Amino acid sequence: MKRDGIVKGKFISFEGPDGAGKTTALNKVVTDLTPVLKDKLVVTREPGGNRISEAIRHIILDRKNTEMDDRTEALLYAAARRQHIVETIQPALDENKLVLCDRYIDSSVAYQGAGRQIGTTEVYQMNLFATGGLLPNLTIYFDVPSEVGLQRIMTHRTDEINRLDVEQLSFHQRVRKSYLEIAKAQPQRIKVIDATKSKDQVVQDVEKIIYAANQEFFN
Ligand SMILES: Nc1ncnc2c1ncn2[C@@H]1O[C@H](COP(=O)(O)OP(=O)(O)O)[C@@H](O)[C@H]1O
Ligand SMILES: [Mg+2]
Repeated sequence: MKRDGIVKGKFISFEGPDGAGKTTALNKVVTDLTPVLKDKLVVTREPGGNRISEAIRHIILDRKNTEMDDRTEALLYAAARRQHIVETIQPALDENKLVLCDRYIDSSVAYQGAGRQIGTTEVYQMNLFATGGLLPNLTIYFDVPSEVGLQRIMTHRTDEINRLDVEQLSFHQRVRKSYLEIAKAQPQRIKVIDATKSKDQVVQDVEKIIYAANQEFFN
């Protein structure tokens, strides 16, 4: 799974808490980039719409699964991620595509490692096994105070309020702190944007970063 030698395609992940505006921005970015990139653009989200990963996602997010152990949760996310890589991400990268993915490895480190407090290093290591070391070339982290993210999903969003969304504020604050630590540790990969700004401004910021980092796709 590791891309030895020649780097093929580009892999960009969108990260941040629920309610940060990732999906909203991603949809607009796709609308703007599709006429330019056409079939060079691949948009996906974890778990990636394949049969196995969707089945795993259903188990993880089902609010009835109150007995789920924290490590079970982390392993299931990693298993769904693996299948998504194999079926979707790696084939697209092999065809030199620009892949935009809603959530990836940093979500596991922040939510399970820090949020659930099972250890960020352990979760990262376990995910290196799951991903075969495939990291994004670029990660855009949507930073918002936890209260803002929660407020947005509770007041506006009707599609899905899941088992993790209903965790208490301290959980979400640990998640944000962890995201900021990862961003600080890997500044070359992770770009932080202020997601409290207006939707239009956020999209502008995201597109600026994508253009700057992927010139070869826009010539
Ligand atoms: N920049 C923004 N300012 C205000 N509200 C926003 C912004 N971005 C998204 N929203 C709203 O917040 C809610 C959550 O957005 P969403 O894109 O689903 O977040 P995420 O995918 O990060 O969970 C939606 O109702 C959306 O319209
Ligand atoms: Mg979303």
